[in-house]
Amino acid sequence: MLKIKALVGAMALAVSAASVSAGEVEVLHYLTSSGEAAAVNVLKKELEKEGHSWKDFAVAGGGGETAMTVLKSRAVSGNPPAAAQIKGPSIQEWGELGFLASLDDVAKQGKWDSLLPPVVSDVMKYEGEYVAVPVNVHRVNWLWANPELFKQAGVAIPTTWDQFFDAAEKLQAKGIIPLAHGGQAWQDATLFEAVALGVGGSEFYNKAFHDLDQQTLKSNIMVKVFETFKKTRKYIDADAPGRDWNIATSMVINGQAAMQIMGDWAKGEFTAAGKNAGVDYVCLAAPDTSGAFTFNIDSFAMFALSDDEGQAAQADMARLVMEPTFQETFNLNKGSIPARLGMDRSAFDSCAHASMDAFVASAQTGDLVPSMAHGMSTNSRAQGAIYDVVTNFYNSKNLSAKEAVDKMARAIKASL
Ligand code: BGC
Repeated sequence: MLKIKALVGAMALAVSAASVSAGEVEVLHYLTSSGEAAAVNVLKKELEKEGHSWKDFAVAGGGGETAMTVLKSRAVSGNPPAAAQIKGPSIQEWGELGFLASLDDVAKQGKWDSLLPPVVSDVMKYEGEYVAVPVNVHRVNWLWANPELFKQAGVAIPTTWDQFFDAAEKLQAKGIIPLAHGGQAWQDATLFEAVALGVGGSEFYNKAFHDLDQQTLKSNIMVKVFETFKKTRKYIDADAPGRDWNIATSMVINGQAAMQIMGDWAKGEFTAAGKNAGVDYVCLAAPDTSGAFTFNIDSFAMFALSDDEGQAAQADMARLVMEPTFQETFNLNKGSIPARLGMDRSAFDSCAHASMDAFVASAQTGDLVPSMAHGMSTNSRAQGAIYDVVTNFYNSKNLSAKEAVDKMARAIKASL
């Protein structure tokens, strides 16, 4: 059962959903790059069409770490926003603390259970009730490439790690930066998990980053993962430290770097820059992961409010997010695919089609895996422990792969 405060809010939410009063929704999010801002604007417009007002609470910072810190301090001081971009197991953490309003009434009316695949709806529920609404499904294991630079270097865009290092050498010999990267912990972790999936495969990945299985964490395969991850460092430029992910994407867009390994929010940047998939840029699964899909589902959770207007606006926002119009337009801008099933695919590009196909196929083969780097596979404590080791190792001159493996296994154990 939800805590009392949330339950009262939930009941009021159900009642006021039927009324027409306009309210204000303060929405905390971290969608501030060009593509992300275009996407979030779709939500703002939809809400305003219903007569509600949008109070923007944007906290910049890729991956949302800063936004989550700000959210915690607002919630602790008793003044949370109406809605916040929260996802994965941390939805459960907020539910346990008793902060969230139930959206079950809106969900039942809208038949969400039949519109969402279980891998999505399970994450949105706390103790069986919807407390969050999904806006999309991001695939994280992507490689984005500038085909012109590959032509110049006379080498094919890689589909395996062996090919990756071979291509990277050739690109570098031509004076091209092989890999656009931003040295921030979450970007290091994004690259690291792509390497782990490619080198170890889905079962290994799940055992390590979902089950947090000590034997897998300490295995020789994990040593190979760390070694391969570190090898990529030779192919990023000296200005990578601290660089934002969208700046790294712009390097691929502008022909300064050949590749980026990043989730498909990067596609939102190509789209915002007027570039076309398959022509100006190429999307391929990250090396050795073509049959797999690392998922990252963005969602908004609603905080329990006491005013009727605010609750009505929250209910409307939750309903609108699940509408086909929103799911299509938002995701065309964001680079992701709709969370809602049975959507018309015709407006989407070839990368989105590839993502939609891989999502369905990987679910059948057991290769649909939750993103560790994007908070889908563990709670935030274990994720933080992995981040620290991964980032320190990537930047350290003398830490060996074996030492990093031992450190990570110990840090994860201590976080449990
Ligand atoms: C979020 C995306 C966001 C990306 C960059 C991910 O964790 O799920 O919505 O675009 O971080 O900030």
